[in-house]
Amino acid sequence: MSTKGNRDFRPLIHFTPPSMWMNDPNGMVYINGVYHLFYQHYPYDTVWGPMYWGHAVSRDLLNWEHLPIALHPDELGDIFSGSCAYDRENTSGYGTTENPPIIAIYTNHDNNTGLEQQSIAYSTDGGKHFEKSYLNPVIPNPGVSDFRDPKVFWNPVKNCWSLVLAAYDRVQFYASKDMKCWEKTGEFGCSENLASGVFECPDLFCVHVDGKMLWVLLVSMTTTVEDGKSRTQYFVGEFDGETFVCTNPAEEPLWVDFGFDNYAGVTFQNYDEPLFIGWAQNWGYAAFVPTNEFCGQMTLGRKLALKRVGDNYRLCGKPEGIQEYRSNAYPIESGNRITTETFGLRIRGNGDARLYLKNALGQSLLLEIEDGSIAVDRSMAGKRDFHDQFMTQRYSRAETKRLVTGGYEIELIFDISVLEVFADGGLEMCTMLMYPDVPYDKVEWQGDLQVAFYKIG
Ligand code: FRU
Repeated sequence: MSTKGNRDFRPLIHFTPPSMWMNDPNGMVYINGVYHLFYQHYPYDTVWGPMYWGHAVSRDLLNWEHLPIALHPDELGDIFSGSCAYDRENTSGYGTTENPPIIAIYTNHDNNTGLEQQSIAYSTDGGKHFEKSYLNPVIPNPGVSDFRDPKVFWNPVKNCWSLVLAAYDRVQFYASKDMKCWEKTGEFGCSENLASGVFECPDLFCVHVDGKMLWVLLVSMTTTVEDGKSRTQYFVGEFDGETFVCTNPAEEPLWVDFGFDNYAGVTFQNYDEPLFIGWAQNWGYAAFVPTNEFCGQMTLGRKLALKRVGDNYRLCGKPEGIQEYRSNAYPIESGNRITTETFGLRIRGNGDARLYLKNALGQSLLLEIEDGSIAVDRSMAGKRDFHDQFMTQRYSRAETKRLVTGGYEIELIFDISVLEVFADGGLEMCTMLMYPDVPYDKVEWQGDLQVAFYKIG
């Protein structure tokens, strides 16, 4: 048991494991009003170790019920990231149409050899227990290192299941009628405008916009140190049923989030819109954060959409599950006290401005809007000497150019030790961790801002 830290930094509305280590969200699927969240879990320490799939369920994405561990390591290896499909038509034959099975598709990672291959397991009791298939691995390793993180989705072009997985420096697509027998259909990545790094946790989903259907490919990458060690890139384009083609070229890589703490995020299967959750952490310092008996939290659920910006489409997101709280927002003045550690701010403004969350020790978290850019600065926000990387200037301040000009609306959600920011209709999103030694109890700003406050939880 870790004894790090001097106060309880466990967020209230951001998912955390009951105890010990958590990384990527896995197997997210929505069934009969219930959100299932599985996650990379090491149940014996607060640092990464041999991976299991933890499991929790929720009806509102804010309150979660913990369930027993869903998948344990086996003779093919540890259970790395993957996804679940609700097999409504029982295409796999592992359930019935009256009682459709949930199929988990995950990576078996051999701890001795590093060999990675894809396996399946099925559940006929709503995800509580899984049986692994005797056919495993259903996608053997083709001779590639870093061959993992299958994300399954329904392929509307070919009327079959497809999956996208990471294969070192690219993603590969596979198709199947029954999720047991998979055939490779294409790949994407090697020659595109990519930040350098090993690909992880890809996702492909379609978005309806301006009367057409476009596809968004997410790819997480760990080694782009200059851009932030763990970040998720996205591409907008088309999917012909076999492979993805990027039709919205960008000069710079496009990031889902301009903060430093959103990684390995993917969307729910069997949900009618893209609903995303990411791991609100960064591989650079994840194992060192001062959170005592648990390590790792998820972002809030975010509905993703595309918006036209100039000639291109850009991703935007909106926090899900907080609408009721948000509708109770009331105006506040600069300098007002706050008495809760989990709250939202609706900010409207024009021109340069600075907004601070402050505590009695003089620590402060800064949101800054300046010259068409928006920044979150945590350099004075609280505890930071737990890791060198966290202390650097680079990792203290996250900044991005705004994609639109003029007046702005910003939604800020603060939850004990996690901040999420959604600016300009969610075109600029930011997730950042911070560890104030005592709670922030005051909001202060300079500039032409109108701010409304709402308590959450
Ligand atoms: C991403 C990742 C995945 C892998 C898992 C292991 O954070 O490295 O590629 O499946 O974590 O826990």
